[in-house]
Amino acid sequence: MSRSPLPYNSKILELFRNPKNLGKMEDATVSAVAGNPLCGDMIIFYLKINNKDVIEKASFESYGCAANIATSSIVTEMIKEMKIEDAWNISWKSVIEAVGGVPSVKFHCGILAVGALKRALRTYCKNKGVSPDWLPKELTFEEKQALEEEELAKILSKRMKAEEEK
Ligand code: FES
Repeated sequence: MSRSPLPYNSKILELFRNPKNLGKMEDATVSAVAGNPLCGDMIIFYLKINNKDVIEKASFESYGCAANIATSSIVTEMIKEMKIEDAWNISWKSVIEAVGGVPSVKFHCGILAVGALKRALRTYCKNKGVSPDWLPKELTFEEKQALEEEELAKILSKRMKAEEEK
């Protein structure tokens, strides 16, 4: 069966070929993973945050698809020099918009990128021992989606293992 390529726009293809801020950050203040390496959809976000709670730089590693790489790349650009509160308020829809749109089957790639960012910011606050007003106690939609994907990947990998052992 042949698979037709997804209709990505030129901005996504450009970010996929030349992603910005790609790679591990050795001096990161905080990092967070979202997704699961077993199914290939995984992002790691690194943030360098100064003592005024401003994000000085951000980088990412991605093991996902073109949309995953493009949305992660644009997130690292969008949050540079932002207060963590403002970065928290970035929605997955604005990220999808910023890359010029993606096919709807790829929405989850952008959601995963924002999920990783929110996890990193939540972890930062936790490590600092603060719970600012803007940080909800409940997980956000993006964080929940990341969790769901991880659960799904675990179930799939268990099933595959069981099949192999048959
Ligand atoms: Fe899963 Fe893009 S990250 S298809």
